[in-house]
Amino acid sequence: MFARIAGVGSYLPGQAVSNDDLVLRGIETSDEWIVSRTGIKARHLAEPGQTSSDLALEASRRALDMAGVDVADIDLIIVATSTPDFIFPSTACLLQGKLGNRGATAFDVQAVCSGFVYALTIAEKFIRSGSNKKALVVGAEVFSRILDWNDRGTCVLFGDGAGAVVLEASDRPGILASALHADGAHHGILSVPGNVCGGQVTGDPFLRMDGQAVFKFAVRVLADVARECCAAADVLPADVDWLIPHQANIRIIEATAKKMGLGMDKVIVTVDRHGNTSAASVSLALDAAVRDGRLQRGQKVMLEGVGGGFTWGAVLLEF
Ligand code: ACO
Repeated sequence: MFARIAGVGSYLPGQAVSNDDLVLRGIETSDEWIVSRTGIKARHLAEPGQTSSDLALEASRRALDMAGVDVADIDLIIVATSTPDFIFPSTACLLQGKLGNRGATAFDVQAVCSGFVYALTIAEKFIRSGSNKKALVVGAEVFSRILDWNDRGTCVLFGDGAGAVVLEASDRPGILASALHADGAHHGILSVPGNVCGGQVTGDPFLRMDGQAVFKFAVRVLADVARECCAAADVLPADVDWLIPHQANIRIIEATAKKMGLGMDKVIVTVDRHGNTSAASVSLALDAAVRDGRLQRGQKVMLEGVGGGFTWGAVLLEF
């Protein structure tokens, strides 16, 4: 039995905010600096009061619609997010309530920008064990809430959004192999080192990053985990039809594709449109590739995530 993607969906809130818009908002930066270093041209920012579960709801409805699945038939809901609506209940439970599903297993996964790949892998294991039949797997973030808008080195890089897939038990091929890793020794190079304690924020509630250390780490592990996943499925990297890596930075994406020996014509890139949306990024790019017709049924696609923790992982699947 396989776990197979039956439908995809995504949602970006509000209007696109261009790099020039950020300059108009008083950030000391330029379109040239941001585009040349990251490939990002725009991002979307949630309205005040709009939460990760709100974005997840829109993306989920679109995925359910494409899959032709009734929300009552979903028996597993996993939301990957680092910007949950509340400390608890989980964003997955809040999403479940908004969708009107009752009784499904529901929980959040916290693996930052690897979150969607982690959540998809977990859902596959629930399905292949036979305990669940139809899963809703979502990456949803409002990263704009944890950005220090006075730190131009980080605030220009991120955006808000959500992506979702319906994953179901099938006798036709779906997920072929997956690999998840983490190394907590590197927790300090990308973090939000704050907490709520006794009614006060303790520590620092904003995203902090050593950009160059993150860059080097990401390129190394993304190429390694892609090779690991190909070996586990007995698939040559050259036989992968599409690479959908975490959409953080075009230079990380290009370096990863080069290390894998894949041309950029086989890589799905959407980072220019929405910046780094953390756990949502891979699912946003997957949805774009399906809806614009590039990713076809029967093709092999490698999804890859890397993020704070540090965490990283890959899923190789036949779409
Ligand atoms: N606009 C204009 N100038 C800026 C900006 C900005 N937004 N941000 C920083 N600068 C300036 C700095 O002040 C510095 O100026 P100085 O030389 O006068 O001191 C100069 O640009 C270079 O700064 P660096 O931080 O050294 O810039 P670098 O070339 O390393 O690029 C970047 C920074 C884009 C973050 C790069 O390190 C990178 O791509 N890192 C990967 C990190 C990443 O993509 N993270 C995403 C999240 S992690 C993840 O998802 C896995």
